[in-house]
Amino acid sequence: MQVKIIDHPLIQHKLSLIRDIKTGPKEFRELLDEISMLMAYEITRDLPLETTEIETPVAKCQCKMLAGKKLGVVPILRAGLGMVNGILRLIPAAKVGHVGLYRDPKTLLPVEYYCKLPPDVAERDFVVIDPMLATGGSSAATIDILKREGARHIKLMCLVAAPEGVLLVNKQHPDVEVYTAAVDEYLNDHGYIVPGLGDAGDRIFGTK
Ligand code: URA
Repeated sequence: MQVKIIDHPLIQHKLSLIRDIKTGPKEFRELLDEISMLMAYEITRDLPLETTEIETPVAKCQCKMLAGKKLGVVPILRAGLGMVNGILRLIPAAKVGHVGLYRDPKTLLPVEYYCKLPPDVAERDFVVIDPMLATGGSSAATIDILKREGARHIKLMCLVAAPEGVLLVNKQHPDVEVYTAAVDEYLNDHGYIVPGLGDAGDRIFGTK
C-alpha cells in the first residue's frame, strides 16, 4: 500500500477532536480548516524554488522564492469543499476546480454530474481533495477526469483513508501520491470507514 501518512502531532491531535461524536459542525469546520492548512504545508514540500536577488535594509542577498509552479485544487463535492479554505490560506494563488459525482444505483459506479476546471489544466499540478477515502471509487474517477482533461501531475489528499480506498487508487493510478492523516481499519457494509468520523459532508454542513 503506497500512502504518505502525515503524522504531525498537531494534525493527529486535531484529527482526534474531529472524530469525536460530540464535535458539532462549527468546530468540525474549524478543525478541518486547520488540518487542511497543516496538510497543505506537508504536500507542498517538493515545490521548486529559484534564487532571486533581494535587497534587505542592510545588504543585497540571494534568496529563495517559489519558482512559480501553477497549482490547482479540486475538491470532490460536497465534503471536499470543507478542505478548500485551509489550503487556499497557504496557497492563495491556487485555482480551484470542482468535480461532482453520484453513484449509479444499478452499477454502483461513480457518474460525473459536474466538472469545472481551470482552463490551463496541462500546466498545473493538481491536488484532489476529499476528507474520506472510502472505496476509492470517487477519487479514482476524479483523477480519471483530470487526466482526461490533460492533467499530468496529481496528488490526492484526504483526512481519513480506508485501506480499500488506498489500494484502489494505487492500482488505478500508480502515479498519484496519496496523502492522509490516518489509515483506519476497514469499510463497513454501509460504506463507512471504521472507526472514521461518520459522514464528513453531514458533519461539515449539519445535515442528516
Ligand atoms: N464518506 C464519509 O463521509 N464517511 C465515511 O466513513 C465514508 C465515506
